[in-house]
Formats: sequence, C-alpha cells, structure tokens
Amino acid sequence: MLSRVPQGKIYQIKKDDKGMGKRKILVTCAKGIPPFLKEELLGLGFPVLSETVAGIETEGTIDDTMRLNLYLRTGHRVFFLLREFIAADAEVLYRAVSEIPWEEYIDENGYFSVSSSVDNPTIRDSRYANVKCKDAIADRIKKRCGKRPDSGPAQDRAVVNLYWRDDRCSIYLDTSGDPLSRRNYRKISMTAPMQETLAAAVIVATGWKAGSNFINPMCGSGTLAIEAAFIALNRAPGLLRNNYGFMHLKGFYEPLWNEIRAEAKKKSKKTLGCRIIATDIKREAVEAARGNAATAGVEHLIEFAVSAYSATTVPEDGGIVILNPEYGERMGKIDELEHLYEGIGDFFKQKCKGYTGYLFTGNLDLAKKVGLKARKRTLFFNGRIECRLFEYELYEGSRKNKQDEGKE
Ligand SMILES: C[S@@+](CC[C@H](N)C(=O)[O-])C[C@H]1O[C@@H](n2cnc3c(N)ncnc32)[C@H](O)[C@@H]1O
Repeated sequence: MLSRVPQGKIYQIKKDDKGMGKRKILVTCAKGIPPFLKEELLGLGFPVLSETVAGIETEGTIDDTMRLNLYLRTGHRVFFLLREFIAADAEVLYRAVSEIPWEEYIDENGYFSVSSSVDNPTIRDSRYANVKCKDAIADRIKKRCGKRPDSGPAQDRAVVNLYWRDDRCSIYLDTSGDPLSRRNYRKISMTAPMQETLAAAVIVATGWKAGSNFINPMCGSGTLAIEAAFIALNRAPGLLRNNYGFMHLKGFYEPLWNEIRAEAKKKSKKTLGCRIIATDIKREAVEAARGNAATAGVEHLIEFAVSAYSATTVPEDGGIVILNPEYGERMGKIDELEHLYEGIGDFFKQKCKGYTGYLFTGNLDLAKKVGLKARKRTLFFNGRIECRLFEYELYEGSRKNKQDEGKE
C-alpha cells in the first residue's frame, strides 16, 4: 500500500483506504505538552481531531508524517494508524493483525520491532502481546513473500506500535522510531539535562519570539539556548537526524524526503534578530553547551560565558530571562538550594528589570524562596516529576515596588 507513484513522486496510500489516503495520525508527547503540540500542529496546517493527556490525534498521509517528524518541536513520536479493531484476547489480536497487508509495509529482507502500550485483562506481560503481534506480522509476510523478516527490540528501523486498552486495539506504524527528542546535537550531557522536546515546549509556553533577548543563566548542556536558536531561526529541529522509522518502510521514496528537507532548509534564517546569552558557573557545562551548539550549527549565534547566574550580562533592551536550577532530590542539599533560589529572586529584581523572568523547577517549596509573585504557572512533567514554569513580570523602575508588595 505504501507505494511509489513516479510522476508526482508521491509516497502515498491507495485510495481504497479511508479518506483518499489520509489516515489518523497520533502524535505522542509528554504530559503537560498537549496544549503546545496542538498549537504546533495547527500552525503546520494539520487538524486537531482529539486530545489526550499525552498526545494529539490529527490526520494525514504517510508523506505528511515525514513533515511532522522533521518540523515538530514538542512531539515525541508520530504514529500512523493502520487499523483499529476489537480484540478480547491475544488470539483475536493475532488474527486481526494478520489481516493487515504487512508485505506492503515491511520488506521481507528487512528488520522490524514491535513496541506497545497494553492494558488488557487477559495479558499479564505486555511482552506476550508484542510477540503475538510480531508473529502475526512475520507469518503474514512469510506466507506472501516466502521469507520471514528479522525482528527484535532495536527501534532504529521499522517499528510497529500496538496500543491496546481493554478490548480496543490500534495498530500503528511508528514513523519516528527513536523519539523526536533525540535531535542528534546533544553529544555531551551535564547534570539533569532537559529533554529537547520539553525545552522547546517550555520556550513556546513563554511566548518568546525572536526579536527580544533570550537570557539563559545556568544553561547546563545548553538545551534551552539551542532550542531557542532553532525557534528564532525557524529551523526545523529534525534536520540533524538521519534516521527515522519511516525510512525503513517499503515504498520510502528518498527523493521526496530530500525535497522536504531542502524546503525546510530554505525556510531557515541565517541570523537571529536578537541576542541569546547562555552562562553557567561550571566551565565544563559551558564547554558541553558550546560543543552541543556547534553540532547543532548554532554556536556562532549564542553568546556563551562561564559565570555565576548573578553576573550574567542582561542587555537593556528586554526579553526573557529563564533559569532551570537544580531542584534537589537529595536531602542535605536543600539549604544550599534555598539560598540559591533566594538569590534568583534578587537577581530578577536587581538586574532584570523590564524583562519577563521564568523559573523552571520541580520543587514548589524552593520556588517560593524566589520571593516574587508569579503571574503565571504552567504545569509540565520532567519524566515523572511534576514541574512548573513560573512567570514573573519584572517591572521597570517605579513599578518595582508593586512587585515587592506581591511577595508570596
Ligand atoms: C539543572 S541544571 C540545568 C540543565 C539545563 N537546562 C540542560 O538542559 O542541560 C542546573 C545548572 O545550574 C548550574 N549552576 C548551579 N549553581 C549556579 C550558579 N550559582 N550560577 C550559575 N550556574 C549555576 C549548574 O552548573 C547546572 O549546570
């Protein structure tokens, strides 16, 4: 079904499938991110069919999944729906999966893996569901093509995803394979780096636009600054990746992918139109951030410095100042961190007037130590940790007193 159409170079699904080659596409994401992912999808011209706690459902063709994988900043994986059905148990699952024309998607000489999310009363171990699914696929291909493709756990080639809740099953092609947070620029990680997709969502949540400054003390491995540079340049975050799940599907038409990439490169600007300043007190963090930015191709656009957050240059013309300090899971460090968070409040008040300040943290008690009234709090999840992005309006001059009055 995934077929090459030479004239239009369209990599598409036959019209006998629902809706002229369009199918449901599920873009998964971390909890807290759906509102931002939704905006992104709408901005890219995709409809929003439904929203869950960790994903947005849209629709499109298989070549649309290439664009989504390339352009989405906040999504985790792009799943292309093949079939939805009711399965009470593993035998029904096997039969229903066998009916999908796998020989049209997966090469008999290729390799595939099955990932899953299973919650069905007859299944105690989700690995069993994966094996049933994998057998159904391999048996079908063997029957049609005389050869069984290889399969295993590696997710860097063709990936099939099974989503099974009670008796409702959905089978998807995972067109991403590795999650989209793996942009391929973070070669060196420092302590507690933010996932790239989370960093992008946090920046989108601030509403920051290139044209005003982006100041990021405590930059660690530089994720926020690099994602900010990508946003300012209108640069597709997936350009550095050379492997996606869709590339391993039968019918993948490389020239079209090259065209999509070339179009994305053309849309990318060369200059920022603002300053991005990233600092950290640790020399090795700044070196890591600089190295990562070099891999990302944006090192020349970010002003890096080894410096205490409080000594970071904050230009006069305004923008946002965003900090992601540690939030200490280990006891004993809390006193030290309380002091640090108090200092951040002073830094905001004394050095960042005219800016909007942001603090991203997973510790609400520590956040209170900043001593400023947050104008807005946005909920995010860093893995399982519930985090908040606090927004502080840092008034200029005479309005300063107002902000002091508002202390929590
Ligand atoms: C949680 S990490 C930031 C992670 C970062 N968002 C990333 O994606 O890699 C906190 C950073 O704050 C830095 N830091 C701690 N105390 C500091 C201080 N007083 N001044 C500047 N940086 C500091 C640490 O070196 C560390 O790199």
